[in-house]
Amino acid sequence: MTRLLDLPWPLRTGRTLLRPVREDDLEPTWDYWRLPEVTRWLPAAPADLEAHRTRILDPERTPRTLVVEADGVVVGEVMLRVDDAWAQAEVAEGARDRHATLGYVMHPTAGGRGLATEAVRALLAVAFDRVAGLGLHRVSADLFADNRASARLLERVGMRREAHLVRDALHRDLGWCDSLAYGVTAEEWTTPLTALARFVRPSGSA
Ligand SMILES: CC(C)(COP(=O)(O)OP(=O)(O)OC[C@H]1O[C@@H](n2cnc3c(N)ncnc32)[C@H](O)[C@@H]1OP(=O)(O)O)[C@@H](O)C(=O)NCCC(=O)NCCS
Repeated sequence: MTRLLDLPWPLRTGRTLLRPVREDDLEPTWDYWRLPEVTRWLPAAPADLEAHRTRILDPERTPRTLVVEADGVVVGEVMLRVDDAWAQAEVAEGARDRHATLGYVMHPTAGGRGLATEAVRALLAVAFDRVAGLGLHRVSADLFADNRASARLLERVGMRREAHLVRDALHRDLGWCDSLAYGVTAEEWTTPLTALARFVRPSGSA
């Protein structure tokens, strides 16, 4: 199985560069993770730089996090957490590492230009591409129902709203909230990676 970090990063899209997170990303990423309007719908809101360091450089988390740069500046992150698709025991091997959950966060100063859309589209192409990417079967995304900007992004990239769950997600300030589930399968994803992005250092090169 090819893992996300095995791929020959960085990946260049029209306006962004995607690469694995590094230690020196701590400060530029804290620049947006410290903002309440950014963490409002995110799974965690680190209280200070140290808490952010622990989280962003967590060895469990770094293998699924890519930093997004635009014009050489860190503007956000995209995440892809690969796991096993749901399967019956007899066919479980065929579902191993074939599903992923998508995540993303952008610095508000870089928002509203389609950079997140561009980076997420490229990541989905990486997820599904059987040759240059991970060859996954399905990608999902879960979000608070009131996170409208996030839902718009998922619909722009071609993901399908598959469920609206009622008061199933506990928000740190708002209590029990509705959430949405989006998904897309490899069969539905028709845009080849080469149409959206290219690895700067192709596989196999020194
Ligand atoms: C979710 C989030 C990444 C979306 O950011 P964004 O700026 O709306 O996304 P993009 O960078 O793709 O920009 C898209 C916007 O720019 C506009 N735009 C301008 N030029 C564009 C282009 N070339 N291509 C696409 N969109 C473009 C779009 O119309 C869209 O605006 P709209 O949503 O008002 O219609 C951002 O709100 C965020 O980081 N939120 C906090 C973290 C979060 O909630 N993450 C998701 C948890 S589920």
